[in-house]
Amino acid sequence: MASTAFAARRRRTRSSREFRLVLACCLLLLLLLSWCNTSFGSRASIHHPDFSSSDFSSAVETRADKAQGQEVIAPGPSHTMVTAEQGTSMPLRLISFNIRYATRRPVRGEQPWNVRCPKLGAQLRFVTTGHRSPFVCLQEALYSQVNDVQAQLGPSWAHIGRGRGDGETDGEFSPVFYRADVWKCVRSETRWLSPTPEKPSRGWDADLNRIVTMGEFSHRATDARVVVMSTHLDHKGVVARNNSAKLLLAFAEEWSSGKGTEASAVLIGGDFNSTPDEEAYRTITAPGSGMSDIADLVPESSKYGNHLTYTGFGDPDESPGRIDFLFIREPRTAKIETFGVLANSFDDQLRLSDHRAVVADLDIKV
Ligand SMILES: *[C@@H]1O[C@H](CO)[C@@H](O)[C@H](O)[C@H]1NC(C)=O
Repeated sequence: MASTAFAARRRRTRSSREFRLVLACCLLLLLLLSWCNTSFGSRASIHHPDFSSSDFSSAVETRADKAQGQEVIAPGPSHTMVTAEQGTSMPLRLISFNIRYATRRPVRGEQPWNVRCPKLGAQLRFVTTGHRSPFVCLQEALYSQVNDVQAQLGPSWAHIGRGRGDGETDGEFSPVFYRADVWKCVRSETRWLSPTPEKPSRGWDADLNRIVTMGEFSHRATDARVVVMSTHLDHKGVVARNNSAKLLLAFAEEWSSGKGTEASAVLIGGDFNSTPDEEAYRTITAPGSGMSDIADLVPESSKYGNHLTYTGFGDPDESPGRIDFLFIREPRTAKIETFGVLANSFDDQLRLSDHRAVVADLDIKV
């Protein structure tokens, strides 16, 4: 009997001890929960910039936050409010690069494509990695080179464009590479720079078929639209280049407003085979043409790197020149932040291409 009473008391004691333990655990859990709440709350407040303090740091915070969070975090109502009240912008990097077609008979000083490709790929990655919105306009890329560059850039990238010959994969492409995880291509088209732009054709006094590849891209997180065009004008035909410049102006105007939506920026990158004092460049930048050379929108003292864009492969008979350009359609809302012409050879003296890459950073309205 006594032993039964003792056991019952022990059971009671144990159960009350268990009860206290459970209670303590519950309290601890509650504490933890409330701490989590405050912690998440304060982190979330970064997404809600203080509207009363419209100082610089608050604006920067909003932008940095947007840049970091735009793909991962679906913009909530507070984001929309920020956009509506302050008007936000985001960085876009535009690159144009004539990569030189993979010839079977390299000229003096030229390394074959299989040697140039990994180095060129490394440069493209170096100037795009860490940038949310890089667009790369290439010229002279054969079908196999387009695939090689795609492999160099990796699966987060995609490209648009086709060959300038009769078949889709025939001849040189002027493709546009873009980050498919950040931008959605809503329409794309390759047109011929000739009196019949809708079909493979050679225009006027041109030596070869010439094309422009056009893409309209929608920013996945904000719905902002940009139009990016990549082109390569003829190396011989003066009239063809001049008329191609006029076609590019007309195409840019045509695509500047999609289905009721104005593009935040209409951009052209290309090899114009025309120096600034030649006809095609003069036509495209003529007063009232609606197009500006992005290089002219950056103060001379803040431009980076080289001035000339064509170098050849070192043959003394080749004359270097400034023939690759980036253009933006007016009236622009984008702010031009940087402009530069990169190097195409380094310590090993190996030329990536006979051209140099041309790069600009823009801040576009979203
Ligand atoms: C180029 O186009 C402009 C503008 O239409 C014209 O005035 C000029 O004569 C043209 N030049 C050539 C070489 O076709």
